[in-house]
Amino acid sequence: MAQLNFGGLTEEVVTREEFPLEKALETMKNETIAVIGYGVQGPGQALNLKDNGFNVIVGQRQPSASWDKAVADGWKPGKDLLSIEAALEKGTVIQFLLSDAGQISVWPTVKKHLTEGKTLYFSHGFGITYKERTGIIAPHNVDVILVAPKGSGTSLRRKFLAGQGLNSSYAIHQDYTGKAKDKAVALGIGVGSGYLFETTFKKEVYSDLTGERGTLMGALAGILEAQYDLLRKKGHSPSESFNETVEELTESLILLVAENGMDWMFANCSTTAQRGALDWKNKFRDAVAPVFDELYESVATGEEAQRSIDTNSKDDYREKLDEELREIRESEMWQAGAQVRKLRPQNK
Ligand SMILES: NC(=O)c1ccc[n+]([C@@H]2O[C@H](COP(=O)([O-])OP(=O)(O)OC[C@H]3O[C@@H](n4cnc5c(N)ncnc54)[C@H](OP(=O)(O)O)[C@@H]3O)[C@@H](O)[C@H]2O)c1
Repeated sequence: MAQLNFGGLTEEVVTREEFPLEKALETMKNETIAVIGYGVQGPGQALNLKDNGFNVIVGQRQPSASWDKAVADGWKPGKDLLSIEAALEKGTVIQFLLSDAGQISVWPTVKKHLTEGKTLYFSHGFGITYKERTGIIAPHNVDVILVAPKGSGTSLRRKFLAGQGLNSSYAIHQDYTGKAKDKAVALGIGVGSGYLFETTFKKEVYSDLTGERGTLMGALAGILEAQYDLLRKKGHSPSESFNETVEELTESLILLVAENGMDWMFANCSTTAQRGALDWKNKFRDAVAPVFDELYESVATGEEAQRSIDTNSKDDYREKLDEELREIRESEMWQAGAQVRKLRPQNK
C-alpha cells in the first residue's frame, strides 16, 4: 500500500509497482474467472484479463448481438464462451457485468451457483447498496468484492491495447475467505488498472451516479445546450455557436485540462479569456450548487436507482433510449456538430 498525498490529504492506494501482474496471476492461479455479460464492461475486462494470462470464460445469453460480438472477438462457443448458467457453474469468480437492471432478473440464477468460497465481483455498488430495491443479497459464505474502472469498457480496452490503463476503485463488502482484498486487487491489476483506490460499495455508487448525472454527462450536456441556444437566440450562426461552445472545448481546452489541470488551461489562453473565466467561474458554481444538492439527495434516497430500475427493466428500454439519443443527434446543435467535425483539418 502506498501512502500518497491528494491535495493535502493522505490516501492509501495500490499501484502496479507493489502489486505487479505476476503477483496478481499467482493470487488467481487456481481461479476460473467467469465474466457474465458481454455488453460494454464485459468485453473490456474479459479481453484484458485473457491477454494478461488469467483463466477467463464468458457467460452470455443467446441469441444476442452481444454473443455475436464475443464470437467476433475470438471467444470460442462451448469452450470459453458459454451460456450464463454454464459459466456460473464453472466459474469460481463471478464477474457480474450485466446491466444493473439485468442483474436483478438474473440474480436468482447467480445465487444458485454461489457455492461456498466463490467470489462475487461487481463493477458498480448499485446492486448491493440498493439491495431493498434489487433483491441482491449475497449468501454469507462467499467473498463479495468490487472493482470499478473509472471509464467506459471501451476506453479500458483501448488504453490497454495502447499500453496504458484506466484507474479503478475497489471495495470489499464481504470477506469470507480472508483473501477478498488480494483477489480484488489482483483482478483490478488484471483488468488493466494503473492504480487502485479503496472505497465502499455505497460511496462508489453515490459518487458514480452523481458524477454521470452531473458534470460528466448530464450537467455537461445541459450547460452546452444552454450556451448554444443563447448564442443562436442572439443571432449567431450554427457553426459559430457550435465552435464557441463545443468544438473549442473538445478539440483544445479540455485536452489541456487533462494534461496539466485547470490553471494550466487558463494560463494557455489569452489574458482577456483568463480574466473573464476567473470572474464568471464562481457565479456558475453557485448557480448550479443547489441542483447538485438536489441530485445527491435523489441518489441517497434511492430515487435515482428506482427510476433506473423501473425504466431499464422494460422490454423496450433500448428502443426508448435510442429514441431519446436520436432526438439529440438530430437537433440543430448536434447536426451542426457533425458538419463541424467533417471540416476538421485532419478530416479533410
Ligand atoms: N459501461 C461502462 O463502461 C461501465 C463503467 C464502469 C462500470 N460499469 C458497470 O459494469 C456493469 C456492466 O455494465 P455495462 O455498461 O457493461 O452493461 P451493459 O452494456 O448494459 O450490459 C449489457 C449486458 O447485460 C446483458 N443483459 C441485460 N439484461 C439481461 C437479462 N435480463 N438477462 C441476461 N442478460 C442481460 C446483455 O445481454 P444482451 O446484449 O443479450 O441484452 C449484455 O451482455 C454494470 O454494473 C455497470 O454499472 C459499466
